[in-house]
Amino acid sequence: MLAGAVHFGIAMASACSQSDHQDSALRIVALTGFMGAGKTSIGLALAEILRWGFVDLDQEIEARERMPIRDIFRLRGERQFREIETATLRRLLEGVSSPTVIALGGGTFIQTANTELLRTAGVRVVFLEPTIEEMLERCRIETQSATERLRPLAADADAFRALYEGRLPQYRKADLTVNTAGQSVADNARKIAASLHFQSEPG
Ligand code: S3P
Repeated sequence: MLAGAVHFGIAMASACSQSDHQDSALRIVALTGFMGAGKTSIGLALAEILRWGFVDLDQEIEARERMPIRDIFRLRGERQFREIETATLRRLLEGVSSPTVIALGGGTFIQTANTELLRTAGVRVVFLEPTIEEMLERCRIETQSATERLRPLAADADAFRALYEGRLPQYRKADLTVNTAGQSVADNARKIAASLHFQSEPG
């Protein structure tokens, strides 16, 4: 089992054959979006609705490297972090054997090597689009209480906005864009499930 894998529902094995029958290429959904977009919380809620597994790529990286992402950035730099991120995504996609929702890191879908891996694996990528204020607020709340910043790239509001603007064209290349602004995690998860036309696996 993958390090951070969570599974909802118990009939995964029998569910797979039904799902394969529906559309074998569409059994992995990856959520992309900027820091604070809600990829992990909405991903968990989506996995629960569908009764699929859930994996958070950042958690996989931390388990693999045995250190928090902020320390990987601090000790090894962003470039090495990106290499680790790609290697972890590759291993994750090779290991997925049942329907799974993946929460990507905020920069994962920006790297060509990663978009290629996702495309080859037939992953449906969903871009979560809240307002920039919502994302800033979530990252700010988190950093206020943390002794050390959890998100190395969320240090400065202007740089945060600029990085987001620069990434937007790439995020928009996702298979589906979901405007999540002002809505609850549960409502957004339901909206995504409905948009992707996936039925819940039998519980
Ligand atoms: C990053 C986002 C983070 C994490 C790393 C780099 C980015 O993930 O992967 O700090 O480049 O946007 P979250 O979006 O889950 O915070």
